[in-house]
Amino acid sequence: MSDDKKQILYSGMQATNTLTLGNYLGALKNWVNLHNDYECFFGVMDLHSLTVRQVPADFRKNARSLFALYVAAGLDPVDNCIYFQSHVSAHAQLAWILNCFTYMGELSRMTQFKDKSAKHEDNVNAGLFTYPVLMAADILLYQTDVVPVGKDQKQHLEITRDIAERFNNIYGDVFVIPEPYFGKSGARVMSLQEPEKKMSKSDENANATVLLLDDRDTIIRKFKRAVTDSDTEIRYDPEAKPGVSNLIEIYSAITGKNYDEVSAEFAGKGYGDFKIAVGETVADELAPIQKRYEEIMSDKALLDGWIGANDARAAKAAFKTLGKVHRKVGLTDLIR
Ligand code: TRP
Repeated sequence: MSDDKKQILYSGMQATNTLTLGNYLGALKNWVNLHNDYECFFGVMDLHSLTVRQVPADFRKNARSLFALYVAAGLDPVDNCIYFQSHVSAHAQLAWILNCFTYMGELSRMTQFKDKSAKHEDNVNAGLFTYPVLMAADILLYQTDVVPVGKDQKQHLEITRDIAERFNNIYGDVFVIPEPYFGKSGARVMSLQEPEKKMSKSDENANATVLLLDDRDTIIRKFKRAVTDSDTEIRYDPEAKPGVSNLIEIYSAITGKNYDEVSAEFAGKGYGDFKIAVGETVADELAPIQKRYEEIMSDKALLDGWIGANDARAAKAAFKTLGKVHRKVGLTDLIR
């Protein structure tokens, strides 16, 4: 039997995200495509979100909403363990222990720490600094084999591997060393207004970003207004034609057609028609997800049931690793 034991996949998103089309095509849809091949854990990373000040009522709602969106997008909460990071105390416990195996110097070199501390100058807290250690704990607790991550998280995965190797060198094989997932990776969706920039929920121009919960008319309107170029050719060339290439990328990620097939499909058509077609395709893709999302959010008992069951399932796996760590470092045994 052990031959067909599936490898473990771990990923998650911060609980504060108002998800954008970029989060969906770059990560979530990719997870849905992968989830049958792995035993999966998907965290709602609410502890990480506390590194930035949150409005409590909104935060609580967003975290539940993210859970519901994972499910609505196609991750079955029975086949997959979808859970709240803050509900499994082993994350914070292991993070503390790993803090003692992580150096100030390596954390100071994290580009995300540098960026975020520049952005939140008034609140450069210790959590922001040790953010990667908590992320290492997330991943290592589940003996993860693969982590699908975007480019911006690559450095965090590298430090996770460094910490795990350092620990294993001292105590023996405690942690599986996780690999980044570089298979058929998700799409990189750019701003519809400034296609040189990544699509971001914090963009000041609302037309730049398509939200996962935008209604059909809004989606199509945003695509109609998408920036293209003065040429007329629908061709993938992110350097010379970033706007058009971004639309091709989006269309391709949803339809599964490659760039050449997309160009061929729209050969001889104008940008106007192309933009509407992409908008409609996106709206069609998101409609069933939005419907399912509304159903889940309106059924509190159903959602609570999934949350309770999966918190327990995550805790079982996580505490197994934490128990091992306790024994290795010489902390007294965990009695659970
Ligand atoms: N830091 C990740 C992000 O902002 C979220 C995250 C936290 C994560 N812990 C993780 C992703 C563990 C993958 C694995 O996108």
